[in-house]
Amino acid sequence: MDIKKIGVIGAGAMGTGIAQVAAASGFEVILNDVGEDFLQRSVKMMDKSLLKLKEKGKIEEERDTILGRIKTTTTLADVKEVDFVVEAVFEDFGVKKDIIEELDKLLPPEVILTSNTSSISITRLGALTGRPSKFMGMHFMNPVPLMVLVELIKGIATSQETFDQVKTLAEAMGKVPVEANDFPGFISNRILIPMINEAVYVLMEGVGTVEAIDNVMKLGMNHPMGPLALADLIGLDVCLFIMEVLYEGFKDSKYRPCPLLKKMVDAGYLGRKSGKGFYDYSS
Ligand code: CAA
Repeated sequence: MDIKKIGVIGAGAMGTGIAQVAAASGFEVILNDVGEDFLQRSVKMMDKSLLKLKEKGKIEEERDTILGRIKTTTTLADVKEVDFVVEAVFEDFGVKKDIIEELDKLLPPEVILTSNTSSISITRLGALTGRPSKFMGMHFMNPVPLMVLVELIKGIATSQETFDQVKTLAEAMGKVPVEANDFPGFISNRILIPMINEAVYVLMEGVGTVEAIDNVMKLGMNHPMGPLALADLIGLDVCLFIMEVLYEGFKDSKYRPCPLLKKMVDAGYLGRKSGKGFYDYSS
């Protein structure tokens, strides 16, 4: 299949990054979200990111040329003319279900539908469609323009042909694809989020301060960010959601979410996006 036009559903941090990277790689993009304000914010984020990348010589084209390949719309039906779709809406099964079912009705049967879900079962999402063999996970990492990995997740019914096409597309977007099978958390979040959860336990138990915990992992293990700063970047609600998926999926106590993580989410301390998490971002 010749993919020229990509539909991205959801203009949050992930959808914005995916749309930007797709456009910077020469694809036409239709970016959909429910509110015009979300789309405007998304375009501003892309503009800022492209400015940085241009300054650093990481992109050759002018920003306007890249942004000119992106059409934004609040009407989901506008994506019916695309050759490929990445769904990147809020990480909630009910929300994804409604959108995936709607997309399945809108899109011609040959179009591959993917989800950027960080932990919801690809098999379960694919089963909502009439095209489970053409459905799979395409899991980008945050911040998408800078992170090289794309985790490609096969559901139980995903065909090898679909997988191969998505792999080729990921490479055309300048990413390095890694294959994972459909088990809770896939590879990335099965390893990353329990580490973050453990860091929150270490904080809760008073073993170390926020700064001490992050410095140990940055300076001692050469992680680019400490686990608590990374939790703030990912979103504490997303981290908690993924821990709950792991706990529910494996019924193993090693995946129990840390009570402090839960308490912070209850308080609305969600990390960068809410202005407060383990660090303060109000300024
Ligand atoms: N676009 C363009 N430039 C960007 C950018 C973006 N979206 N985000 C940051 N930058 C720029 C910064 O502005 C900065 O530019 P200057 O050097 O000119 O100031 C530059 O990148 C480097 O940033 P920083 O100096 O702030 O920090 P850094 O050198 O540590 O790099 C980082 C930033 C790439 C994010 C790095 O810290 C890193 O790799 N962190 C780990 C990220 C990570 O683990 N992501 C995966 C999260 S898990 C996930 O996404 C999956 C899930 O399902 C939960």
